Amino acid sequence: MEASMPKRKEPGKSLRIKVISMGNAEVGKSCIIKRYCEKRFVSKYLATIGIDYGVTKVQVRDREIKVNIFDMAGHPFFYEVRNEFYKDTQGVILVYDVGQKDSFDALDAWLAEMKQDLGPHGNMENIVFAVCANKIDCTKHRCVDESEGRLWAESKGFLYFETSAQTGEGINEMFQTFYISIVDLCENGGKRPNTNSSASFTKEQADTIRRIRSSKDSWDMLGVKPGASRDEVNKAYRKLAVLLHPDKCVAPGSEDAFKAVVNARTALLKNIK
Ligand code: GTP
Ligand code: MG
Repeated sequence: MEASMPKRKEPGKSLRIKVISMGNAEVGKSCIIKRYCEKRFVSKYLATIGIDYGVTKVQVRDREIKVNIFDMAGHPFFYEVRNEFYKDTQGVILVYDVGQKDSFDALDAWLAEMKQDLGPHGNMENIVFAVCANKIDCTKHRCVDESEGRLWAESKGFLYFETSAQTGEGINEMFQTFYISIVDLCENGGKRPNTNSSASFTKEQADTIRRIRSSKDSWDMLGVKPGASRDEVNKAYRKLAVLLHPDKCVAPGSEDAFKAVVNARTALLKNIK
């Protein structure tokens, strides 16, 4: 079944929307919602059992928005409960914990679960996704940096926010932008407005930055075989430099990737006769 859009309404009229939270257990989904709706933080972990449901009203420009929030349990055990709730959603808060790499790596699986539940005709293009890189207050344990998270989100056309439910950092900004984007989408007849930077860099650039980040050595980073010649190294370097040069590429992480490529080439050329 196709994810349904609320009917286009006259500006100023009220609108009812459905929002869900998604992400691994314990990443802070419930705390983010609580921080925004109740202005408080609970440090004790109280796992959501199945689904928590709440209704809230927000004002976006001249419209009153009634928001039905379905806060999902992240534990795999609740899969069967969750999968009844994906349809007819206009907005998803997709959360990971910046100190838990697994929770970041799991984001694709969360999208796949939603897609599978919506079925072959389900359309995820008319849903606004806000990715929350949560627990940024835990700086010591951080292992997913901003550029990595932003790159993943923006290359999919999703909003990206750095948040802490504990301190409140980023939470209001996230919800405000999220609700404005949903209203824009509804007023735009269900098409995601092209307001983020997803169009400003290519998939090839995003994929290359990801590949460089996960490369195991300098050969691998330049995409040449160990023992390659100076010419091969220089050729591979030039190709990457054109793709990632900070003057040309605005993808998150491109500057670091470019520097890494320059260093890799220097290191390799030192040892090639
Ligand atoms: P499930 O309901 O099991 O899917 O988990 P959840 O994603 O809803 O996590 P929840 O909001 O219950 O938070 C899990 C734990 O992380 C709790 O102990 C929270 O206090 C803690 N927590 C949530 N957000 C933050 C944050 O921004 N910073 C810190 N330091 N801890 C947080
Ligand atoms: Mg929860």
